[in-house]
Amino acid sequence: MCGIVAITGQADVAETLIEGLRRLEYRGYDSAGLAVVDGKGLRVHKREGKIRDLEENLPWALLKGNCGIAHTRWATHGEPNTVNAHPHLDGDGKLALVHNGIIENYASLRAQLEKKGHVFASETDTEVLAHLIGEFYRGNLERAVQSALKVCEGTYGIAVVHADEPGKIVGARRGSPLVVGVGQGANYLASDVAAILGQTRQVIYLDDGEMVVLTPDAVVTTTVDNQQITKEIEEITWDLDQIQKGGYAHYMLKEIFEQPETIRNAFRGRILPDSGDVKLGGLRLTDWELRNIRRIIILACGTSYHAGLIGEYLLEEYARIPVEVEYASEFRYRSPIIEPGTLCLTISQSGETIDTLEAMREARRKGAKVLGITNVVGSTIARESDGGVYVHAGPEIGVASTKAFTSQVTILALLTLLLGRRTCISADQGMRIIRELQLMPDKVRRILDASEQIREIAQVYMGHANFLYLGRGTNYPIALEGALKLKEISYIHAEGYPAAEMKHGPIALIDPHMPVVVICARDGSYEKIKGNVQEVRARKGKIIAIVTEGEDEICRLSDHVITIPETLDPFTPLLSVIPLQLLAYHIAVLRGENVDQPRNLAKAVTVE
Ligand code: AGP
Repeated sequence: MCGIVAITGQADVAETLIEGLRRLEYRGYDSAGLAVVDGKGLRVHKREGKIRDLEENLPWALLKGNCGIAHTRWATHGEPNTVNAHPHLDGDGKLALVHNGIIENYASLRAQLEKKGHVFASETDTEVLAHLIGEFYRGNLERAVQSALKVCEGTYGIAVVHADEPGKIVGARRGSPLVVGVGQGANYLASDVAAILGQTRQVIYLDDGEMVVLTPDAVVTTTVDNQQITKEIEEITWDLDQIQKGGYAHYMLKEIFEQPETIRNAFRGRILPDSGDVKLGGLRLTDWELRNIRRIIILACGTSYHAGLIGEYLLEEYARIPVEVEYASEFRYRSPIIEPGTLCLTISQSGETIDTLEAMREARRKGAKVLGITNVVGSTIARESDGGVYVHAGPEIGVASTKAFTSQVTILALLTLLLGRRTCISADQGMRIIRELQLMPDKVRRILDASEQIREIAQVYMGHANFLYLGRGTNYPIALEGALKLKEISYIHAEGYPAAEMKHGPIALIDPHMPVVVICARDGSYEKIKGNVQEVRARKGKIIAIVTEGEDEICRLSDHVITIPETLDPFTPLLSVIPLQLLAYHIAVLRGENVDQPRNLAKAVTVE
């Protein structure tokens, strides 16, 4: 995600700001910028691309102030270019703001400000917030920030400066982290302690609803409602590498543990709990067009393909629209038939996978409307599609995709609800589905608590050469995904199968040395999969079962059991995939493999 660094009280602040930005590089970014306040006003420089590009083009001699804010952006609203990069200015050009998060009601705020004569240079929600604070500014920056935040919906971690109050930085947090660094004659604010670790180890973590006013000699914390609060100063004992990974041993583990938040980010601002409906403005489809989709073709590769397979189950069952899912690489080398009313959905975390991109182009050539579900704003698939949905999972650094997958599945569930409400899902059903979706982050968190138990299971099986993964219904794609995760990072041969298909061949492999991971959640396929578990048991295969809490029968048949909370059928895959990600992770770590950069694999596959 984006990164913030802000400093007051340090000579030649620009150098330290750039150093802080560099320490945030691991988070991924597409543009960067800074604003420095000196006695004469505000100097702002921004640039698309790497921090080095920004650095090489800075007029260093003019950046002599001792107070400034800086930002690395990972685009969410608006393309990753120089105009959309932060900091953003208010209407007078005297206030500069950097922001992490999403202002959900920015469109209506922007319209109101435009009526008052405000003119916007960028497409971002952040610029709207800068103008809004400027609109409230009457000579006291913290008051203006408080007034503006009262009318904002969504999430933010912000740092703001004003040319008329040099030396002052105002920060506020809701949903996006901010940490204050307490120094000697200088104070700091950052989205991530890594950015300021070179300057101080004394920090204050802001909580949601809190803000801070920094000057070189003082740190004043209040709530956004202006209630004075006293915060504890903590000492950082971690080193930089640990901090960049948030204290996790690997990015992959960090990303697995981020899923409660990333799933929430995927549905945040898109659900309408009171009407049981969904809004996905980026699709750019009218209600009439939504009602008249006759067929959907999903194109994707790897993990994104597995998300697509889940989408097929969901869309067919709950929206009653025929769906085909195809490996993007195969689609364009046959002669696909695209009839009127066909919608083509491409799913890609990176938005750059060449097979998916070319398949999308082929579908468009043949007359399909093409939509993209991607994680990277401004990626080629996002730019070339007719519309789409960003999954907002934040940068995924581990090569093995984890959080992007659950975000893709969440978006497919939203799309199903959107289309289903226009075909056969009632408002009551819609409301029930949304209520359950809102519980998903907590349910995922409960599964993450079993990480240590899963590590113990991994210890038992780390030496095995083969694994079989079985699932039915929406958990068949999860069996494929579980097997792919294990293959990718541990180099153990693993196969995913629809559980009933086992008896048509792979059952020959089962003996006392074969670990079989079976997903037996209590969903529509539960009764059937019990029989498949018996078949494995009868051949003395080792059974690692993923079961719903309260399960008894499967537990008696299994060697190991990992429980997941009860949920509605369409959401089971969001839960059942978590233990499989953790199992693959722990096995790979125990085998001493490089889980974040497995051999032969690349994060974005841009060759055919
Ligand atoms: C997932 O763990 C893999 N690294 C890989 O299968 C990936 O999902 C595939 O290459 C597609 O990538 P994309 O989602 O960026 O298009």
